[in-house]
Amino acid sequence: MAGADLTLDEQRQQANLAFIASGAEFAFGDALALPLPVAELQALTADSPGVEALHDGGLTAEVLCLNHAGRRWAIKRARAECRVRNPDGQTSFLNELQRHAELAPLDLAGIVKPIYCSSRAGLVVSPWLDGRHPGVLDERQARSLLQAGCALIEHGFFEWDYSAGNLLDDGERLWLYDFGYCYRFDPLTQLNSAGDGRDCPQFHLAERIEGRHLFGALLDAGSDDEALPHFLTFKRLAAQAYESLAERLARRGATTAVLDHYRGLATRWHNELTHAPGQLYLANAWQAHSSDLDDDLRGRSCTSRTLRRAQWLQQALREHGLTLRDSGALAAEDAVLNDVALLAHLRERELEAQRHQL
Ligand SMILES: Nc1ncnc2c1ncn2[C@@H]1O[C@H](COP(=O)(O)OP(=O)(O)OP(=O)(O)O)[C@@H](O)[C@H]1O
Ligand SMILES: [Mg+2]
Repeated sequence: MAGADLTLDEQRQQANLAFIASGAEFAFGDALALPLPVAELQALTADSPGVEALHDGGLTAEVLCLNHAGRRWAIKRARAECRVRNPDGQTSFLNELQRHAELAPLDLAGIVKPIYCSSRAGLVVSPWLDGRHPGVLDERQARSLLQAGCALIEHGFFEWDYSAGNLLDDGERLWLYDFGYCYRFDPLTQLNSAGDGRDCPQFHLAERIEGRHLFGALLDAGSDDEALPHFLTFKRLAAQAYESLAERLARRGATTAVLDHYRGLATRWHNELTHAPGQLYLANAWQAHSSDLDDDLRGRSCTSRTLRRAQWLQQALREHGLTLRDSGALAAEDAVLNDVALLAHLRERELEAQRHQL
């Protein structure tokens, strides 16, 4: 196939799979600045002197906390084979190195700066962030995450995975450090890194945060009634963030399509926050849970939360089917099914998620 026929995703996947197959090295930073030589970092185990923690639950890598000469470092080591079994998973470590190399000189607030990365060594070494993974986002957390997310967009980075395991809160701001699923795009002419950059407008920053993180955290926090005010706070801040983002992109000559996208969403949310907050919540929760269920099934990376998402969808359809259909939240392929058929389909997906539970 000619390059022009490929989506942005396919072009990126092909190039990175070929790079990995070639065995070539992608590295940046200064190996001499490392706390220990590369070979020693590769050989560290949970019992090695100075190793204070080991995170080995990750899908792409394992991360050690190394205390050396009074400083803590995050030593991220690639797994021999990524547990996300698709081209994006297989290329996620190399992709992360590429993003770190591009992001480091930008010095953005809330974006960790590794001191050294090497694809051959399967290593990323960064300062250790002393923080906690966020749950339901409070106002400070939401503001700081939206700020970091907008900064990424403005510099041409589209981050797909805002799940809690990829976020740390140091009490002052939220930090991002895992760029395995962060791809380049042109923020002045494109909306994201999917399709041709313009034809998948359903994917955007607030939608990613809601899908990968917020609605999952809200499932743990309690009922829909309890979740509603948290969601509304986030949405109000997201609307404000999109208005300011559009202003900044406008000054740099972004296309009308890009500006209308962010301004249109902000206007719609302001309007619905005032007139139909419950419906806005239902529609966004539906989209978040559906899209995350899809992602987990596609990557075969299902957890107990994936099952609860599938259950939430079934219950919402039973209780609020009409409202959901009226709000336009259902994807075209779901909207053509009647409630009985759609419920059966969701039940099937729940069972499929059970089979792929990690
Ligand atoms: N610089 C850091 N400072 C403190 N903790 C870190 C740092 N980098 C990673 N971690 C911890 O290690 C965990 C795994 O890191 P990371 O998300 O980068 O790996 P991963 O294998 O790509 O995970 P997954 O595939 O599940 O997204 C994080 O959830 C976090 O708790
Ligand atoms: Mg991660």
